[in-house]
Amino acid sequence: MSNKNKIGLLGFGTVGQGFYTYLQQHGEERKVKEIVIKNSGKNRNKHNVKFTTDTCHLFQSETDTIVELISDEEQAYRIIKEALQNGKKVVSANKKAIVYHLEEFIKMEKEFGGRLLYEGAVCGSIPIVRIVNDFYRFDNISEIKGIFNGTSNYILTQLLTKGISYSEALQQAKEKGFAEENPVSDVGGYDSLYKLLLLSAHVYGKLILPNEALHIGIENISQNDISFARKHGLKIKLLASVKNVRNEIFISVLPTLVHQESELYGVDNEINGIKIYSENLGSQFYKGKGAGKLPIGHTVYSDYKISDGYRYTYNALENRNDFKYSKQNRHLIYSDRIYLLEKHLSDIEYLSDKSGFGYLTTEKLIYLKEYLYKNQISVIALNEKIKVKILNAAVKHYGFAFA
Ligand SMILES: NC(=O)c1ccc[n+]([C@@H]2O[C@H](COP(=O)([O-])OP(=O)(O)OC[C@H]3O[C@@H](n4cnc5c(N)ncnc54)[C@H](OP(=O)(O)O)[C@@H]3O)[C@@H](O)[C@H]2O)c1
Repeated sequence: MSNKNKIGLLGFGTVGQGFYTYLQQHGEERKVKEIVIKNSGKNRNKHNVKFTTDTCHLFQSETDTIVELISDEEQAYRIIKEALQNGKKVVSANKKAIVYHLEEFIKMEKEFGGRLLYEGAVCGSIPIVRIVNDFYRFDNISEIKGIFNGTSNYILTQLLTKGISYSEALQQAKEKGFAEENPVSDVGGYDSLYKLLLLSAHVYGKLILPNEALHIGIENISQNDISFARKHGLKIKLLASVKNVRNEIFISVLPTLVHQESELYGVDNEINGIKIYSENLGSQFYKGKGAGKLPIGHTVYSDYKISDGYRYTYNALENRNDFKYSKQNRHLIYSDRIYLLEKHLSDIEYLSDKSGFGYLTTEKLIYLKEYLYKNQISVIALNEKIKVKILNAAVKHYGFAFA
């Protein structure tokens, strides 16, 4: 075996072990001299490989690829940076480290000749980064919309179908290896947003930082909301969307009511689903496992295998001034305590004395986020068709809807 193509592997948790399984299956495990982990005290005797907490050997000349699969974003950032400064090929699944530093990483790729691939960071086993970077290069994408986070989708599915509590569903997601010990990033919508922003960089050349964009998670979704969705034959999904309307880019992550006619309605549990709308291809739908040892291990291994001859082109970055990021788009939302938001909403319509619909801009929702979180007020986006269906059902039931 050549001495030149060693792999510097960091992390041996869910994804690290998945990646290593693929190396073993293909007789490549000897390319890894030692695996960098955090806790040297963990019992890993059953694995016939050397572990270390020392990163010194990582950037030696015989190592040409760094595979970074750790759960510490700050350390991940330092590792990716140093690897790129050494002109290495880097494969990472760490969306947060990448989204906050993408501009810097792209510059380093150009300056030092290395490359950074991160398919494993975005929607699990769906090769969506390559799809938008390569396949969609020649068509204009008007919207990417989907379920980007396996943990929150798993929880929402369990709430709706099994009638269990939020905390029980979250515990199950942890036991199955979908949710992290600290699940805030998943259920708070951050994880979906990081992925969305990475896709937005490829499609529109916009490098938007997470704190500039709207993300509301599923923490405030109540049993009332679940019953409401069930009663109307709907599901609540955490939908991420990046949309281009006349060269204005709108970005959001919001709990959303989804109708049976939508392909996303059937995307349950830890599965991810993505719809892409483009000028000439119309709509396309992708669905696949969003989390787990072997699905993400496979995606990372696939990046590793193509990393010799492949790099992201970021074509849209050249035309980044063609698009303007805007927060002035309006969202139609439902809340079971809409009366608490009355002064912020426009065109409010009540469904009962407390619940109903109204419109808010992205900017207003960002402003209200803290208030919603503190008071555990849920807001759920929906489209006009679903609103009409719900209002008609109310008229049928009560003979009237609240004005
Ligand atoms: N799990 C998924 O389904 C999934 C899906 C897509 C993307 N990802 C991403 O993949 C990455 C890894 O996730 P995971 O689920 O495999 O995490 P995990 O199961 O918690 O494992 C994390 C690994 O990182 C090591 N580690 C943590 N901090 C470190 C540090 N400062 N220095 C060296 N090693 C460190 C840990 O060492 P010890 O073993 O010593 O604790 C452990 O081996 C994350 O960026 C995550 O967001 C995960």
